[in-house]
Amino acid sequence: MKNYILLVIAICALLSCSKTASNPVKAQIIPIPDTQVLHEGSFVLSSKTGLEVDKNLSGVADYLKSYIQTNYSIELVAKGSKNISLRLNTNIQNDEAYELKVTSKEISIEAKTARGIFYGVQSLVQLFPVQSTAKEFPIQCLEIKDAPRFSYRGMHLDVGRHLFPVAFIKKYIDLLASLKFNTFHWHLTEDQGWRIEIKKFPKLQEIAAYRDETLKNHYNDQPHKFDGKKYGGYYTQEEIKEVVKYASERFVDIIPEIEMPGHSQAAIAAYPELGCTGDSVKVATKWGVFEEVYCPTETTFKFLEDVIDEVITLFPSKYIHIGGDEAPKARWKNSDFCQQLIKEKNLKDEHGLQSYFISRMEKYINSKGKQIIGWDEILEGGLAPNAAVMSWRGTKGAVEAAKQKHNVILTPTSHCYFDYYQSENENEPVAIGGFLPLEKAYQFNPIPKELTEEEHKYVLGAQGNVWTEYMKTPEKVEYMAFPRAIALAEVLWSTPSRKNFNEFKKRLLFFQKRLDVKKVNYANHLYELKGKLTSKNGELFYEFTPFDNASIFYTLNGKNPVFTVDKKYTVPFPIDSSTVIKAIVFDADGNQLSRDIFQQKINLHKAVGKKITLAPKPHRSYNAGGTQALINGVSGSNKRFGDKEWLGFAGDDILITLDLEQPTVINTIRTRFHNGNGQWIYAPKNIGVTFDNGEETLFKVENDSLLVNFNATFTNKNAQKIKIRIPNYGLIPEGRQGAGHKAWTFMDELIIE
Ligand code: ACM
Repeated sequence: MKNYILLVIAICALLSCSKTASNPVKAQIIPIPDTQVLHEGSFVLSSKTGLEVDKNLSGVADYLKSYIQTNYSIELVAKGSKNISLRLNTNIQNDEAYELKVTSKEISIEAKTARGIFYGVQSLVQLFPVQSTAKEFPIQCLEIKDAPRFSYRGMHLDVGRHLFPVAFIKKYIDLLASLKFNTFHWHLTEDQGWRIEIKKFPKLQEIAAYRDETLKNHYNDQPHKFDGKKYGGYYTQEEIKEVVKYASERFVDIIPEIEMPGHSQAAIAAYPELGCTGDSVKVATKWGVFEEVYCPTETTFKFLEDVIDEVITLFPSKYIHIGGDEAPKARWKNSDFCQQLIKEKNLKDEHGLQSYFISRMEKYINSKGKQIIGWDEILEGGLAPNAAVMSWRGTKGAVEAAKQKHNVILTPTSHCYFDYYQSENENEPVAIGGFLPLEKAYQFNPIPKELTEEEHKYVLGAQGNVWTEYMKTPEKVEYMAFPRAIALAEVLWSTPSRKNFNEFKKRLLFFQKRLDVKKVNYANHLYELKGKLTSKNGELFYEFTPFDNASIFYTLNGKNPVFTVDKKYTVPFPIDSSTVIKAIVFDADGNQLSRDIFQQKINLHKAVGKKITLAPKPHRSYNAGGTQALINGVSGSNKRFGDKEWLGFAGDDILITLDLEQPTVINTIRTRFHNGNGQWIYAPKNIGVTFDNGEETLFKVENDSLLVNFNATFTNKNAQKIKIRIPNYGLIPEGRQGAGHKAWTFMDELIIE
């Protein structure tokens, strides 16, 4: 009898287990909702579940129905024993806010608009299992009240440098919508290719859409080599309509960008009369900024107005992006027509002419009931009256525009350029440069400090930019965009007090499983080790940032660490001589979690841990390691000038004073400068060194490669104090990227031996 009862219990347990599939998925929603209260129990979703919707919500209802049908073995019915209800509720204030309630009897989503309901649906589907073929599954009972922090939540994609199939554009939009982004900025025209069909101008399709060949390797690798293969294509108007419809079903507005007056070499290649010289030019085959810009003639304005006429019939968006960035003025300076126009219109100079150009196009676009957005260069020479500004060269443009009561969108290179490297690992796939790790993207605050509370309202939001010079395939775009776009989604949606990077990483770890199902080639650096040299009572220690549920094993002998055999990291360990630290992250079973082996060379030279002052301070976006990074025994990456070891200075002359605390024998002073001219970074031309208030000696710097070594040698010089003066390179020469601006200086460890 006893055995029989046990058997019945066991069978019941088995049955109930298979019946309810499993425990509900833990709520780990990204972006994290404003308020989320978990309750006991679950709602069981099955093909008996009904979908009850208010009228005007049939679009979202279809989306949800199809989502469930496509991804699970469940089909919702019109009216079931228990229901999912989608209801409009005019008591909810914010157009994008929603309330999601899951009880054992009902799932309800309420919002003021269909858009809000859609965001409720996006949160709901993150409560579903990652993947399941079960006929039913439980959903955690909870209550969520949620609303976005910013009204503009954007991601951009450049299809000029490389082109991606319509299917991928849709996949990208779908991913954005799942993260509650509401804007896709489609960068459609470039020097290297025109990508939107304009029926009135067939040569845009025949000529401007194709380049003869493409630069191989990195722009910084000289001499330039080309692949010899014709490259190009464009989106037909039918395809664009299809994408716009797909996006609108996901409440994503598409802002098309038609670049002017710069980045227009492809259009000028098709129609040379649009340029100032009338000369025939080729669609660009390498990256950078080109001098071929539209000439502000009536022919050009008529062309652009006709283009805009076709563009606005395709895109219902309130905004048209007109570019405005990186428009060299050389052609206008040398054009009699432009000089005459400057006089006639009483403009100050070529910058005034740029302002005239943009204002005139703005007037036309406004007359069509649309507004313009432009990159922050549209501030030069005066802002067009109704323009919104996209601030990319830092946040200065945003501050300036907001103070002029213009709407702004933040896309500073430091936090929003997802074409930058995201890992310090030297094996990372090639990227344009820079360094923007996930945490930096996550910690971004789109509201510049310089704005008053009253001015905050001009900050509509922010956007991640994906420039594709070094992204030939959809897989590479995915690798660069995700997970940084996921971090940005939380920046833009969630209340700052709800944000916590460590907790975000845990949710991301789970979210990655959803990305796996969607076959997204995201980058995964979640177990990338971070460490630093610290000093305590005059002794040096190396400290790792530990992980939850994972262990760090390390060696100091240059060998790759082995689980259980080598030292398990618990507390900072002493460093008393130069060494190479290697480390790996393992889980409890000895599976390697870190993708790559961490390696850190420590050079205990004579300045390590000594007193240093630096004037002026580095730019705040490139100062992660602080002044001490210059003498912490750790050199920066050979490839990433934006890591925490490199310091970046925006156009300043630099003065370093070093106090070695006692007279010290010095034979060498060395350092490195990054010379990534494509990113406006130039090594200095010379450096002055002064010992103990003596005479300055000037050393010439050979500015001849991407990484410039400075190496000054002395013969047993005895000194305590060293002054090192590093004059800025100066203005970037004409014809180069960033021409006319002061160069940046990026400096690595200052080694004294
Ligand atoms: C830009 O990155 N040129 C806007």
